[in-house]
Amino acid sequence: MAYKGLPTDKVKLMPVLLLMSMCLFAGIVLTSFKTETVRTNQVADTVRQSLIADMSKLKQQSQLLAVTLELLMQEQASLEQAQEAFYQVKQAYKKVEYMAEYLDPELAKRINGAPLPKVLVEEVNYQTLHFQKPSVRTFPPEGLQVLEELVFAEEVEPVIAKEAIVLAHGLQDAVSLLSGSLYQQPLSDKQILESLREQLVRVVAMGITGFDAPAAGCELAHVALALQPVLHAAQLYDSSLSGKAKTYSSKAVEQLQQAVLYLQQHPAFDTFDRLYFTRELADLAYAALTALQQELLPTAASVHKPVNDHASSLFSADFLQAAYFAKQDRREQKPELIELGKVLFFDPVLSANNERSCASCHVPSKAFTDGQARSIAFDFKGTVQRNSPTLLNSVFSNAYFWDSRAIYLQDQVPDVVVKSDELHGNYEEVVLKLQQSSEYRKLFKRAFSSQADNGLSTNTINRAIAAYVQSLVALNSPFDRYMRRETEQLGASAKRGYNLFMGKAACGTCHFAPTFNGTVPPRYLESETEVLGVTASADFAHPTLDEDLGRAGVIPADAWKHSFKTPTVRNAALTAPYMHNGAFAVLAEVVDFYDAGGGAGLGLDVPNQTLPDSPLNLTEGEKQDLIAFMESLTDTATVYAAPERLPQFPKKAGLNDRLIGGRY
Ligand code: HEC
Ligand code: HEC
Repeated sequence: MAYKGLPTDKVKLMPVLLLMSMCLFAGIVLTSFKTETVRTNQVADTVRQSLIADMSKLKQQSQLLAVTLELLMQEQASLEQAQEAFYQVKQAYKKVEYMAEYLDPELAKRINGAPLPKVLVEEVNYQTLHFQKPSVRTFPPEGLQVLEELVFAEEVEPVIAKEAIVLAHGLQDAVSLLSGSLYQQPLSDKQILESLREQLVRVVAMGITGFDAPAAGCELAHVALALQPVLHAAQLYDSSLSGKAKTYSSKAVEQLQQAVLYLQQHPAFDTFDRLYFTRELADLAYAALTALQQELLPTAASVHKPVNDHASSLFSADFLQAAYFAKQDRREQKPELIELGKVLFFDPVLSANNERSCASCHVPSKAFTDGQARSIAFDFKGTVQRNSPTLLNSVFSNAYFWDSRAIYLQDQVPDVVVKSDELHGNYEEVVLKLQQSSEYRKLFKRAFSSQADNGLSTNTINRAIAAYVQSLVALNSPFDRYMRRETEQLGASAKRGYNLFMGKAACGTCHFAPTFNGTVPPRYLESETEVLGVTASADFAHPTLDEDLGRAGVIPADAWKHSFKTPTVRNAALTAPYMHNGAFAVLAEVVDFYDAGGGAGLGLDVPNQTLPDSPLNLTEGEKQDLIAFMESLTDTATVYAAPERLPQFPKKAGLNDRLIGGRY
């Protein structure tokens, strides 16, 4: 084709364009002298290129899996070949996992999410729930974990193979979408460093627990594969940095090399030393990567996410941010507010009979539980529906109550105050009552001085009590101090117990580190409920299923029948009796229940049980070790004293002899 020359309007633009590009060039040269960020841009690009290559391998492998499954259907491929094809996909996924999960957690869930049906609920407002039935849709599970259950089933019949083919095609779609999004955008250092840190948390809190290997058995070799790209990226940074940043990147490389090697050299699942791996290898790599990120891209810690970017250990007391979970402005955590919340918490004036307070059922010396199977009701006749849960560290959850019905910590206050069997208060009357005390009026004024709504109202009562509950954080147990390397002291039995908890006994697949509750790593944005088939009593020889529907009582989804929030096992030594119904009196009974495979393992019909029903085959010694580990999570370092006195009511003498903490 003949060259026609530039059209005249473009020729006129030429000098302008030239000037612009010169400025741009100068800008780049200048900034590259100023910051490390531009130099590491090359690193980001190399990381992206190798991700694109790994992603296309994953695409090929998932295609191959679909083809192999089709051949299996036609009896032209063996089951072993199908299983091998599955392994290849899983290995390929492990290599891109860190960035797939980081960039698009929802899509990643379609590829490697838990093999459980997904329940979608239309916008639920807890306040209006009693009047409106929420609509619920349940989707069957998809992804690698369901495929694994199918491909490794005892017998793979044609129906199963057909289902597997459908799943394999779904997998292909999800992988295509994922690689598409990677092609469209460059990666930044911030994204890469954050994804590497998240991957370390994922490996420590989930990967080595075998949470995503439901059928084939957890391959610690797969976990090594999941860490390899983290090591690779750290090496790339290390070779492009100098000065302080390089000290951190070198430390990260050294720790990660050892971590990968350790995984490769200790492939046996049951005997893998998770405590050593976590404390001496992975957690120190996390510390180095955190320091590296802060050195390259210093930022203020944001309370708008659960994980504190500045925390140097998974077991730092500030690793998770209470302020995020309480969904309050951090300024709200001022001492005057907590102090007011504490007084209200211990003051029976909140109840209709001026005899019961929050502390009646949440006693500080019992880690804020009450020692009853079910709490004693307001009028001392009968009990409330459920067991009083610990309030220590309860803030670290995205939903509250055994059935997850409250999203905000401050929502549970009206729930309790108004309930006829708890405090039986008329909330407006409580406000009028408190207003009669000049001491209370002063306390509210002090606590809410800078707020527009500095009055004494249901809203300010809720917020003050929530601030107090939010302050009940106790993360200085002997176990925490050992993990943070502040001490070398931790009993041998507790150490073995941690390895069992995170390994053979599979507790850590639901009670996630570091809170050991259902708040899901590595982002901690969701809190799970689970179906264990909890029995009505500890008589395991004659088991009957507890009737409480749990979450399905709030949202009528079959998958959520008998589904309960996974509570923390921190301070479990102080919180007996156990479970939502207090059915188990001692930890040994809890462990026996799990050892049997939960309700279904005991022979009950629990079709939606999410706890595997196979026995754990724990020895007596192993059971003891599990208990010793849970006991090492007791935090006695912080003393939670009741207030010394309660505000007075000058004109209501009858109110002034009320008991601090109320009656029980
Ligand atoms: C009569 C006993 C009783 C009283 C009084 C009581 N609670 Fe509770 N509390 C319970 C029980 C039982 C539950 C679990 C209820 C459920 O899940 O359905 C609970 C649950 C909670 C939870 C949710 C914890 C979690 O991790 O999900 C919080 C927070 C809480 N109470 C705080 C308070 C506060 C604050 C007060 C005072 C305003 C209070 N409670 C008064 C018995 C009581
Ligand atoms: C499938 C998820 C899952 C697994 C696995 C699991 N738990 Fe739980 N755990 C839960 C849920 C959910 C509850 C609350 C059940 C209820 O009240 O109905 C719970 C309750 C508990 C409690 C009672 C806490 C309290 O305050 O009442 C303890 C203790 C406990 N689990 C320890 C363990 C141990 C030890 C293991 C391993 C042997 C384990 N869990 C495995 C989900 C799980």
